[in-house]
Amino acid sequence: MNKEEYKANVELLNKYSYNYYVLDNALTTDEVYDKLYVEVEAYESENVDDILIDSPTQRVGDVMSDGFTKESHDQRMWSLEDIFNNEDLLKWIQRSKKLVDNLSFYCEPKYDGASLNLVYENGILVSAITRGDGEVGELITQNAKTIKSIPLKIDHLKRLEIRGEVVIYKDEFEKINLLRAKEGEQLFANPRNAAAGSLRQLDSKITASRNLVFLPYGVGQNSLTQKLLSNKMTYIYTLGFIEPMIRSTCKNAQEIEKFYNSMNSIRDRFAMMLDGMVIKVDSIAQAEEMGFTVKNPRGAVAYKFPAVEKITKVKEIILQVGRSGVVTPVAIVEPTAIEGVIVERATLHNFDEIERKDIRIGDSVIILRSGDVIPKIMKVLTHERDGSEVEFKRVTSCPVCESELLDEGALIKCQNLSCAARVVNAIIYFASKPCLNIDGLGVKIVEVLHTEGVIQNVTDLFTLNKERLLELEGFKEKKAQNLLDSIESAKGCECWRFINAMGIEHVGEVGSKVLCENFGVEFVTATKEQILALDGFGEEMAESVVEFVRVNSEHIERLREFLKPNSPVIVEAEENPFKAKTVVLTGSMSESRGDIKNMLEALGAKVSGSVSKKTDFLIYGEDAGSKYDKAIKLGVEAITESVMREMILNNSIPN
Ligand code: IVH
Repeated sequence: MNKEEYKANVELLNKYSYNYYVLDNALTTDEVYDKLYVEVEAYESENVDDILIDSPTQRVGDVMSDGFTKESHDQRMWSLEDIFNNEDLLKWIQRSKKLVDNLSFYCEPKYDGASLNLVYENGILVSAITRGDGEVGELITQNAKTIKSIPLKIDHLKRLEIRGEVVIYKDEFEKINLLRAKEGEQLFANPRNAAAGSLRQLDSKITASRNLVFLPYGVGQNSLTQKLLSNKMTYIYTLGFIEPMIRSTCKNAQEIEKFYNSMNSIRDRFAMMLDGMVIKVDSIAQAEEMGFTVKNPRGAVAYKFPAVEKITKVKEIILQVGRSGVVTPVAIVEPTAIEGVIVERATLHNFDEIERKDIRIGDSVIILRSGDVIPKIMKVLTHERDGSEVEFKRVTSCPVCESELLDEGALIKCQNLSCAARVVNAIIYFASKPCLNIDGLGVKIVEVLHTEGVIQNVTDLFTLNKERLLELEGFKEKKAQNLLDSIESAKGCECWRFINAMGIEHVGEVGSKVLCENFGVEFVTATKEQILALDGFGEEMAESVVEFVRVNSEHIERLREFLKPNSPVIVEAEENPFKAKTVVLTGSMSESRGDIKNMLEALGAKVSGSVSKKTDFLIYGEDAGSKYDKAIKLGVEAITESVMREMILNNSIPN
């Protein structure tokens, strides 16, 4: 084979591969492919300098990493709000109509896998980053290259981020689990976990062996000019990516509902698991204008498919005591496969629920599983009872510490602040990834530390010493030192981690970040009104924060002294006409509205998506529509883009 022939053969192999993996249309047999592959490989071993970047040999996973580097996404990877029925859909459309006019929608399957961001530069795949927390993910380029439906080279030279879901087909998932069962390895709970786990293998050979598939659903940073997402995606598919089995644009709720029903009815025919349909505002400008809540874009929702039901038997009911003391009953059921997932537990929510549904040990029940939600018991098949079923009585003493429980009806609580389960769960939560991310504080170790009386609460973690640890079984020099080091490294943590770790009810990671961005560690001095004014905070959350601070001020102070969390530097904008003003942008402007939004935010303005009485300025460009009319009606000051620029330049409001 000479160089020209080599090039032609690489091209031919890629054509076979594209047809097979992307178009699901084999052009040849495995034998022909393999023979040519071996020839190409032989040429490459003799002519190393000629190796083409998109040669199929470059996908082979023979790279071992000793860890993955963290990498920031250029644009955040958001998640979607879920809707479940027609009523939710109508509400979402109504809400959207308040923000923009003349909506049309793009609908496609929602795949159940792990999201991945691919970055192409000069047509070459240069990096692949997992979603991570949406802002920072892990760089797994080498593993992504083993996925045959990810082109190594595309016909688009400008920088382009392509986002999609990595999945494992249902039949492949079964094969993997069968193999794992044979080898005595732990089974994957579902295809999503299997896909996510396979992507993050340090040995890319393992990733290569899992037959992962990439399905694009959107773009991140790009300079594409299509105005509609549906057209943008059509273009992406032409670059060599898998197109969904069905997708459609819809004009209204009826059309969406119809398409949703037809997708749901053929959901079994999809090779991969779907957990719903994604509906996205088709106009990119409109979607951008609608903006984001703390977690989600307002211009897209996930319309979940109805859950799948199965019959199984309740073997046992166990009790779990959470960190807030609530005792939760959980049913252990006979293992049952639902859509490729083995279900062994079902939540019973609370004791009232057990009584209301009259669930007894030994009962045959219908369980329902939807998406990633823990399965629940829908109905007891009482006609199947044979008298051997055993009623489950409300408990009066804590299954862990045996102290008397407080029975509030639906909820039964252990009030003993030093109950082992409460303390242990609080410490595990404190050390978990979205909190202080302290390595080496898993369930077993925390249980040992607690039963041996080494730690009674989270603050004791900071006074641990090596001598004491070495007295414990299983602790040698290295393990003890590692644990002390990782606790030490929690000091100086980001302030949102400090807030999140305290476990304030109703305030999760996102809420903690918002509190931290606005107040830093001084969130303890924020009033309820100030907290209510934050994006995404409602009455319940605000109240919860204020109450938590009131009751736990000493504890917070001690933790703060130990941890010395890093408050973000809140740079206050210099005085200017837009500082602390609420501004709405509409119409087309000389720059993208996103850029103008960033500029105004840097000046200390809050840029909102919709006009209300609280709006201080409406800034309008050409073709301003209903927002302009609304602003005028409400008496909101409406100014043009050039007036805005003048105001910024002169630092004053023109007459
Ligand atoms: S769009 C702007 N489209 O679902 C939001 N996501 O909860 C970006 N997913 O993290 C997501 N199929 O991993 C979108 N057709 C689809 C999807 C999809 C699956 C996943 C994705 C995302 C999560 C959103």
